Amino acid sequence: MATPESRLDLAAHVSGSAVGTARVDVAVGDTMDYLQVELTVDLDQGDEAADALATLGALSVTVESASDEAAFDVALPGEPRWVRQKLVGLFAPESDRDDLAAAISTALPGEEPVFSVLADRDWERAWLDQFSPIRIADGLWIVPSWIDPPEPGAVNLVIDPGLAFGTGTHPTTRLCLEALTQLDLADKRVLDYGCGSGVLAIAALRLGAAEAIATDLDPRALDATRANAEENRCGDRLLTMDPDSVDRRYAGGVDVLIANILAGTLVELQDRLLALLKPGGVVLLSGILADQADAVRRCYGAHCVLERRDLDDWVLLSGIHSREGLPA
Ligand SMILES: C[S@@+](CC[C@H](N)C(=O)[O-])C[C@H]1O[C@@H](n2cnc3c(N)ncnc32)[C@H](O)[C@@H]1O
Repeated sequence: MATPESRLDLAAHVSGSAVGTARVDVAVGDTMDYLQVELTVDLDQGDEAADALATLGALSVTVESASDEAAFDVALPGEPRWVRQKLVGLFAPESDRDDLAAAISTALPGEEPVFSVLADRDWERAWLDQFSPIRIADGLWIVPSWIDPPEPGAVNLVIDPGLAFGTGTHPTTRLCLEALTQLDLADKRVLDYGCGSGVLAIAALRLGAAEAIATDLDPRALDATRANAEENRCGDRLLTMDPDSVDRRYAGGVDVLIANILAGTLVELQDRLLALLKPGGVVLLSGILADQADAVRRCYGAHCVLERRDLDDWVLLSGIHSREGLPA
């Protein structure tokens, strides 16, 4: 098995752009350039291929999608599970291509490695340069902390995803954010269920909500959410807690519930989520692929009047909760 040190799986949760790597066509220099080896394999060969690259001395092995295929439903925690995977191994510059090609063909018969050179660069800078301010809706932006807001008078959210989902760029997050801008949040208690970076809870607070509760199965998401709330100067109105504590403390007490999780999880959590809403409360459900929307609508439709909005292949179902059909 590859060791955690030798195998570097991307934490990406959507179709895998290679985060933190860039291919350039230059010769191997005498500094820190790397020899890069790419292999494209089926899902069931992914672990074996990653192990082979690690055993052959790869300094890192990155797994990414070989296409635009989404792997959204394995958001943290978990590993990417694209059907066709591209493995990128980085080797020391002095590694011999012919030796590596021969060893790969022995370890993984039939696989054709593609060699190139990855020039050394300022990786931190390269990572930061990927982000730029995003205008979500009128008066609402997500702005990296190191960039001046293009519209200083707007609500400018400063979000660092840390190890959690949620830079605001994913269509489902955007759909939820847009929907939040259309609500009157004054005096409202908002619950962000599956908070990731906390972007939705923080947006709700910055858009006028009285208080927000953020919950997630992943403790790293709660950490990231707390840090981001402090950065956005709204930490005093935000509580983070695990989902069971939310159930215990807030049954029937939530004005606006946002759950950008996954269709299957939304269906599974239906009773639990609806039990948290006040009668007449608003529900925003996303993380739903277009072809899953009817199933989620069927599930929640008995208790909520739902509207659908689409962005790319993703759907937001939003609506108002009625007590109809629920036990008194
Ligand atoms: C798609 S991310 C959404 C993050 C953020 N709210 C956003 O809109 O960008 C889904 C989050 O839900 C969390 N999650 C998944 N299943 C969950 C569950 N059953 N209960 C609580 N959180 C869950 C994941 O850990 C992940 O952080």
